[in-house]
Order: sequence, then C-alpha cells, then structure tokens
Amino acid sequence: MSESKFCKESYVVKTSIVQPPDTNGHGTLFGGKLMAYIDDIAGIAAMRHSRKAVVTASTDSVDFLHPIYAGNAVCLEAFVTYTGRSSMEIFVKVISEDLLTGDRNICALSFLTMVALGEDGKPAPIPKIVPVTDEEMSLYESAKERAEHRKRRRKDSEKRAQSFGTELPWRE
Ligand SMILES: CC(C)(COP(=O)(O)OP(=O)(O)OC[C@H]1O[C@@H](n2cnc3c(N)ncnc32)[C@H](O)[C@@H]1OP(=O)(O)O)[C@@H](O)C(=O)NCCC(=O)NCCS
Repeated sequence: MSESKFCKESYVVKTSIVQPPDTNGHGTLFGGKLMAYIDDIAGIAAMRHSRKAVVTASTDSVDFLHPIYAGNAVCLEAFVTYTGRSSMEIFVKVISEDLLTGDRNICALSFLTMVALGEDGKPAPIPKIVPVTDEEMSLYESAKERAEHRKRRRKDSEKRAQSFGTELPWRE
C-alpha cells in the first residue's frame, strides 16, 4: 500500500469523570479500568488510521505514575506513531485533572501495537505514517527500537507458552 497519512489524522481524545463505582478501596481509579480505557482509545486511533478492523497484538508495560481520584477528570490522548506492513504502534497519554483546583498530572503513558485485519481475518496492509511535529518525530524515531524489543519478547513468550499445559487449573 503506497498511501500515507499524518499522525494527526488518527488523533483521539477521550475525557471522562471518575465515578465511585470505578474506584478501589483507596478511592482511586482501578488499574484494570484504566487499562480498558487505554485499549479502547488505542483501537479507535488504529481504526482511524487504517480504516480496517483491528486487534490488540501487544501492550507495552503501563506504569501508573500518579493516582486518579474519584471526582477527577481523566483525559486520554492517542495517536499512531509508527507503522509496519499491517501493525501500528499507538502512543497513549493519560492525564488527570482535579476539577476543583485545576491541578493536572500525567498518570500513565503506554505504547500498544494494533494489527489491521482484512475481510479474511488476516493481517492486511495499512497506510504509512508521516510524523510532523517534534513530539511525533521523536516518538517515530524511537519506535524501531521498541519494535525490535517487542519482536524479541514475542519470540520469548511463544517459546515459554510451549512449556505450559492447557489443563483446567482446578483439576485434582
Ligand atoms: C496479532 C495477530 C493478528 C498476528 O497474526 P499472525 O498471523 O501471527 O501474523 P504475523 O506474525 O504476520 O504478524 C502480523 C503483524 O503483527 C505484528 N505482531 C504480531 N504479534 C505481535 C506482538 N506480540 N507484538 C507486536 N507486534 C506483533 C507483526 O510484527 C506483524 O507486523 P507487520 O505486518 O507490521 O510486519 C494474531 O497473533 C492474533 O490474532 N492475536 C490475538 C489478538 C487478540 O485477540 N487481541 C485481543 C486481546 S484478547
């Protein structure tokens, strides 16, 4: 595929308020809930870029840098930073805002890899990404190294998976 697209064409912003049912015993947002938000927004960015169905191939580690309290606004931003043949790296930034004081904190950063699928359900080609701003260029230039790291990790996971059984965990 020779088509190319700008990072900003995949840009997604999602803001919501943290409600008590989404919090743990400390009154802060559940990590799992935040991970679901991250996966969700990354999927939208990937579909905006590829205009195809996508699946999450991997999520790099998510470091929870700052707690997000009930009543805070949580704002996620995502865009495609790098592309392969069928895979896209998506950068997600999570910022919390105390709506009473205006204090804002970066709570998490994450990189995910989404793969575009064709109508046959197999990985399908996508447009190349074109970075423009300093932030986009810096993320694009560092992406190859992250992709190499993921390749090594995938091989390691596949090898490790062969050493585990699939029996039911509750069998006697
Ligand atoms: C991801 C998936 C589509 C890859 O399919 P595959 O038949 O193994 O295809 P390939 O090995 O050719 O990989 C296709 C692309 O995905 C990339 N990829 C595959 N696994 C990856 C991983 N773990 N991390 C990063 N990239 C990965 C490959 O590098 C390749 O990229 P490229 O086309 O840009 O060069 C397949 O493994 C899958 O369906 N996994 C389950 C996804 C899912 O269900 N996600 C939801 C979570 S429950």
